[in-house]
This record gives sequence, structure tokens and C-alpha cells, in this order.
Amino acid sequence: MQLKNDRYLRALLRQPVDRTPIWMMRQAGRYLPEYRATRAQAGDFMSLCKNPELACEVTLQPLRRYPLDAAILFSDILTIPDAMGLGLSFGVGEGPKFSKPIRDFMDVVHLPIPDPEQELRYVMDAVRTIRRELQGSVPLIGFSGSPWTLATYMVEGSGSKTFSIIKKMMYSEPEVLHMLLDKLAQSVTLYLNAQIAAGAQAVMIFDTWGGVLTPRDYQEYSLSYMQQILNGLTREADGRRVPVTLFTKNGGQWLEMMAATGCDALGLDWTTDIANARARVGHQVALQGNMDPSILLGTPERIRQEVQTILDGFGQGSGHIFNLGHGITPDVDPEHAGIFIEAVQDLSPMYHMNAEIAE
Ligand code: CP3
Repeated sequence: MQLKNDRYLRALLRQPVDRTPIWMMRQAGRYLPEYRATRAQAGDFMSLCKNPELACEVTLQPLRRYPLDAAILFSDILTIPDAMGLGLSFGVGEGPKFSKPIRDFMDVVHLPIPDPEQELRYVMDAVRTIRRELQGSVPLIGFSGSPWTLATYMVEGSGSKTFSIIKKMMYSEPEVLHMLLDKLAQSVTLYLNAQIAAGAQAVMIFDTWGGVLTPRDYQEYSLSYMQQILNGLTREADGRRVPVTLFTKNGGQWLEMMAATGCDALGLDWTTDIANARARVGHQVALQGNMDPSILLGTPERIRQEVQTILDGFGQGSGHIFNLGHGITPDVDPEHAGIFIEAVQDLSPMYHMNAEIAE
């Protein structure tokens, strides 16, 4: 089926668009009362992820409220370690926890590589259900965590501030960590390719914790495994390129290295100036970002001002996907999210006036 709105896919490939496309990281989430109601119906967060009908429902909720240019699969990056048998749970008001974290060589040896159409079938069913319900209105984004980011949760056993357990492994038994990262890269490749086969039209790799590494360790323990995934990904489906976005939070210093992987776009957090990023890598990749989600806590005027500043920073032409620099937080007023999205739609067309000439 022909997509009715393919602005997001076109901008990822730096093709002309009429205005800057926008979606929001964590657009389906706790800031929406309808999300909280559906989660209550499911029982808890993981039960919501594992129910394809309800996962589809929460995926579509933000699109009913706002004129967004893409849907993102409702799921979590921790579905892979869960499918590997690590015993994932989310306590109320707490982050993720694993009852069986990975601590030594034998733990890694015993770790299975999940079959996406078996242990993770609920994710593929959600993708198929969402694609059917979207009816070609906007593209569907699939996603995964990066091997490094998944490993931080699997080795630490929960979120961490210092990453001391995984860094101890890195600096005392690097071969164990490499074996773990290799298994994760294989698992993520299968998982993303299965999402693409099920109907995901673009994919994004979230490397939330790559930015806690030294530049050399970032290359060795995070970027090289994202490269391994990129080398194995399906890059075309239904006669269209399936664009890949890499996002390393706090990775602004490494954009050149990241762009050299052959991905289509880079996600930027708000600590990088988008004009600077475009000057450095804009000839190779599209850029997604990069408003600080906290701006949504400010006044409507301040939100519009920041949107204008970011649009000006990127400048004329295609290759920008507007987004937040990280996930929208639960304390945001849904009305402010609407003001943000509207501001991008109102203010961005003038940056694409010469689109036809450029083409
Ligand atoms: O953007 C979307 O709408 C898609 C949904 C999505 C979720 N998680 C839903 C979610 C996506 C893309 C993710 C990715 C994810 N999950 C990342 C990478 C992106 C990032 O935020 O850095 C990470 C690190 C995780 C792991 C994770 N999941 C954590 C640390 C937490 C707890 C922190 C928190 O925000 O509460 C989650 C839970 C989670 N994932 C929620 C949602 C909506 C909140 C859980 C709830 O509803 O109770």
C-alpha cells in the first residue's frame, strides 16, 4: 500500500519534503492519561508490551491526539534480555530489574540467541497489528537497544549511575564482555530483520549509555557492534529503502565515526548544536533531534522559541527529523506536547521553500 504521509522516510534519505517531519521519543507513555488507563487494563508495563492488541492501541494513542509523521512500535529495548531468560521485572515507580544478571563467562556461554518469531513473537505480532491498523497513514518505526546498552542492564542487573560492574568486567575480563556483545549483536540483527519482515519501515538503534565510555572504548565496545548489526540488516523492503537511525546519547563528539558506519541518520541529544552537527556530517546522514524534553515544562512561548532556534540551526533543506533529544517525561502536560508539534508544523515549511529547485 502507498504511504499517505512519507515525509519521515523522505527526510531520513535527505529527499525534498514540504515541511520538517516530527515524532517524539516515548510518544506513547505515562504523560498521556489514556496510556495510563490502558496500562492499568493490561496490569503492568511488561504485560502491556506482551499484548499485541493493547501494544497497538497505545502505539496509536499519540497519533490520535497529534498530527505526528511517524508511529513507533510500543515495546521496550529489554525484550531481548527478557527472552534470553534473565527474569525482567519493572517495580512500580522503579526502573528495570533482572533476577538473573550476567556476571561471568559461564553465564554468557549459556545465554541463548532468541528466535524472534518464537520467544519474541509478541513483538512481531504487535508490528503486524500496528501496520494493519495504521492503514498506510504514516510509517512505522521499529527499534532495538544497542548491544552495549543492553549489556549494561544485563550485567548491572538494573539501571546504574556508575556502571562499575560492567566496567570492572571490561577492564578485567574483556573477552567475556566481547562474547556477550557479539551474542547481543547477533540477537539484535535477527530481531530488527524480523521487525522489518513484519512491517517496520525504518529502524532505530538506541545506544542510551554509549556516552559513558572513553572514545576508544566507545569504538571497541559500542560502535563496532552497531556496525556489525548494520552490516547484517535488511536495507530494502517493498521496493523502498529501510532507513536506519543510530542514537548514542551524549555521543555528540563521535558523530563522524557514527556517520561512517553507513547508517542513514543520527539521533542527537540536546547537548550538541544541530548547526555544528550538520556542518560535520550533514553531507552523509540525516539528523534527528534535538530539543531538550524539559523545554516542554516551560511556557508555550518558550517552546515555540526553542523550535525556531533548532529549525534555524539546521537551516534550509531536507535531512532533518524534528524530535526531542531524549524521551518525553511523565510530568509533561499533553497540551504542551501539542504546542510543540504544532510549532514544528507552522514554522518549518519556510525551510523547505526551495525543495523543488534543490531536486
Ligand atoms: O517511543 C515510544 O513511544 C516507544 C516506546 C519505548 C519504550 N521504551 C516504552 C517504555 C521505547 C522506544 C523504549 C526504549 C528504551 N527502553 C530505552 C532506550 C531509549 C531511552 O529512553 O534511553 C531504554 C534505556 C529502555 C529501558 C527502560 N524501559 C527503562 C530504563 C525504563 C524505566 C524508566 C522509565 O522511564 O520509567 C523503561 C520503562 C518504559 N519503557 C516505559 C515506557 C513507556 C515506562 C514504563 C511504565 O509505563 O510504567
